[in-house]
Amino acid sequence: MGFLFPWKRADVAIDFGTANLRVIRLHDGVVFDEPSLCCFTQGGPTSALIAAGNEAQPMLDRTPAHLRIRRPLRRGVLQDLDTAREMLRYALARMPEGRRARATRGLFGVPADATAAERSALLTAAHDAGFRSAQLVAEPFAAAIGAELPVQEPVGTMIVECGAGTTEVAVLSLGGIVLTRSVRRGGAALDRAIVDHLHFRHKFLIGDATAEAIKHDYVRARLASDTAGDATLQIKGRSLGSGMPTTIAVPLTELDQVVEKHVAQIIDVVRNVLLATPPELSHDIHDRGIVLTGGSALTPLLQSMIASATGLSVILAPNPTHCVANGLHRMLG
Ligand SMILES: Nc1ncnc2c1ncn2[C@@H]1O[C@H](COP(=O)(O)OP(=O)(O)OP(=O)(O)O)[C@@H](O)[C@H]1O
Ligand SMILES: [Mg+2]
Repeated sequence: MGFLFPWKRADVAIDFGTANLRVIRLHDGVVFDEPSLCCFTQGGPTSALIAAGNEAQPMLDRTPAHLRIRRPLRRGVLQDLDTAREMLRYALARMPEGRRARATRGLFGVPADATAAERSALLTAAHDAGFRSAQLVAEPFAAAIGAELPVQEPVGTMIVECGAGTTEVAVLSLGGIVLTRSVRRGGAALDRAIVDHLHFRHKFLIGDATAEAIKHDYVRARLASDTAGDATLQIKGRSLGSGMPTTIAVPLTELDQVVEKHVAQIIDVVRNVLLATPPELSHDIHDRGIVLTGGSALTPLLQSMIASATGLSVILAPNPTHCVANGLHRMLG
C-alpha cells in the first residue's frame, strides 16, 4: 500500500545523524553509511577537507595542531553548516553515478522537535551541497515506518528512537505524530558519562573514541550468557596520578550503574509522554507495547528498565540502527 503522505517525489533518503550518515537510493538501497565527521586543515585563511566518514574515524582524538576533526551535528541537530555541507558533498560524490547524482532530490530525517532555525540550517546545507530540493521528515515517524509499525491505522503506536545525539519518544496514529518529547542525549552522552566516571572514580583519562569502544565491549560482555558475576573490563588510558599510560580493570557492575543513570533520564521522557497520551491511544499502547529503534536501542538494560518502569512490554525493532533510513527509503517510492 502506498503512503498517503504529503511528500513530493524524491530520489534519495538521507538519515543525517550525530554519529552516522546514511544515504539510500530508491533502486540501489544503501549507497553510503559512514561516520558523520570531517577532518580539515586549520591555521590558514581557508580550511580544506582532508578526510571524511570512515577515513576520518581513525583520526579522532589523534590530530596534530594543523588538523581539526569537526562534526556536522551535535545532539541530533545541525551545529556546523560548513561541515554539514562538506559531509553531504562527500557522500554524494561517493554515490554510484558520481556527479550526475548531484542534482538530486533528497528526503531528510530531522528530530521531530527541531526548531525552525535547525530545520532551515539543514535545508541550507542540503542546497549548498548540491541537492536540487530537500524535504524534511520527523525521524520518529520514519523510524516507525522502518520498523514496519502500522502508522497509518487508527491505533496508537509508541516509539523510542535512540540515536547518538538525541532520544525521541513519540506516539503515532493515523499517519501522523500525536505527541512527541525528546531528550537531547543519546549514545554519545553515555560515552561521555563513561569518560566522567573513569575520571572521577578512578582518576583515569580516556578519549571519547575509547569510551565508545569500552561501551561496545561492555555490551558484548553483558550479552554473553557466560559472563561471570565479578567480570571486569581491561581499560587502557592515562592515570591522572602518575601521568603514565596504563591499564585498569573496571567491574562490569560499575558500568551498569553508569548505564542505569543514563537510562533513568530516558525513562523520565517515556513517562511524561505516557502521562500526556489520550486514553484511547494509551489503551492501544498497553496492548501493543513500546518499540525501540536507533543504534542506542541496543544498550543493555534499556529494554528491561523501561519495561519495569512502565509495566508495558518493550520490543526491540529488527535492525534498529537502520529503521530511520529504511523508513525514509520506503517513503521514496
Ligand atoms: N550494540 C550497541 N549497543 C549500544 N550502543 C550502540 C550499539 N551499536 C551502536 N550503538 C550506539 O548507537 C549510536 C549510533 O546510533 P544511530 O546511528 O542511530 O545514531 P545517529 O542517527 O547518528 O544519531 P542521532 O539520530 O541521535 O542524531 C552511537 O552512540 C553508538 O555508540
Ligand atoms: Mg538517528
